[in-house]
Amino acid sequence: MVEKFKVTPWEVSGKIDYDRLIKEFGTQPLSSHLISKIEQHARKSHHFIKRKIFFSHRELDVLFKELDQGKEFALYTGRGPSGHTHVGHLIPWIFCKYLQDAFDVEMYFQITDDEKFLCKPQLTLQETNALGYDNALDFIALGFNPKKTFVFVDTDYGKTLYKIAVQISKRVTASTAKAVFGFTNDTNIGMYFWPAMQAAPCFLPSIRHGKPIRTLIPAAIDQDPYWRIVRDVAPKMGFPKTAAIHNVFLPPLLGMNGKMSTSEGEHATIFTSDDENIVRKKIMKYAFSGGKDTVEEHRKHGGNPDIDMAYQWLRFFEPDDQKLQQIHQDYTSGKLLSGELKQILVDTLNTFLVEHRKKKEQARKNLDQFILKD
Ligand code: TYM
Repeated sequence: MVEKFKVTPWEVSGKIDYDRLIKEFGTQPLSSHLISKIEQHARKSHHFIKRKIFFSHRELDVLFKELDQGKEFALYTGRGPSGHTHVGHLIPWIFCKYLQDAFDVEMYFQITDDEKFLCKPQLTLQETNALGYDNALDFIALGFNPKKTFVFVDTDYGKTLYKIAVQISKRVTASTAKAVFGFTNDTNIGMYFWPAMQAAPCFLPSIRHGKPIRTLIPAAIDQDPYWRIVRDVAPKMGFPKTAAIHNVFLPPLLGMNGKMSTSEGEHATIFTSDDENIVRKKIMKYAFSGGKDTVEEHRKHGGNPDIDMAYQWLRFFEPDDQKLQQIHQDYTSGKLLSGELKQILVDTLNTFLVEHRKKKEQARKNLDQFILKD
């Protein structure tokens, strides 16, 4: 039986079949040939590609061909500020940092305070704007190059973005927007226009530099519907089609279905602002375990890392392959108990987050160096 799941920019639910998504969305799997191309150009690998956390793409092969011919590209990604940053949001951003270091390219980061105001009835524009600047600090804290990184909040950079968005919007019909995004007659008209705003930064590097510069977008696959629209429009506006590289979702602590998000409930979402105690409590209490019911049984039969959220999260947050492999072996053999495995995740995440919060404080002082405003 084919299991039901849903992946849209606003809803991710069910047990996601990523191979099926590739077919349904019409993207390409990230082939081993392309993986070695990235590694070769970057001169080092990243555990996100080795572990297929980035698994699919659009036109990355074309981008590499152009790179070999000496053409430039720019990175683009973003955040919809509906709350505090959680550790799932960091996944594409960590990969962006790796790519910026490797290719020494410009990085554009859009913060969509307008989108979250339009689609979340309870939020005011002032709230989404303020959250946006806080979320920006989480991005900057990852260590982006201030000379080549541009962060902009939509309503404060609207004059520039609107000029691009309005050109895009003229070339997209309401029926396309309905088909691609599932809009209905009850959807507010702001949302009908909104996709043009998320599409606009795809052309921003070309416009700022006055020459064609292809953008590459690292993001989870839920954002892909936007790239379908913008890729249709690009040649009509004389810009290169945007390329994309897609990551899978960090799963919810409670189990494999869907993505980790605040809608799962704040209690089971780990935010970058959660202190060490909260992180420990959340993981110990909510991380779904693949362990056996009793210690005796566990020692005898071992645990199942495929369904164990502490292990699944370590695939994202423990970069050392050997360490991860040892954990896998010890857990499946029964040597490592479920509580001990959770403790490893608690320590790994806390080490990262304590450091991250220090860098976030530093970023507060340097924010102006990154911000684009009209
Ligand atoms: P938002 O704020 O929902 O998500 C920000 C980024 O995080 C990714 N993401 C995840 N990745 C891994 N595991 C998860 N559990 C998880 N949850 C979210 C999202 O795919 C996204 O890349 N409309 C956008 C903001 C935006 C944007 C962009 C995103 C504007 N321009 C360009 C990507 C690229 C939004 O609300 O993202």
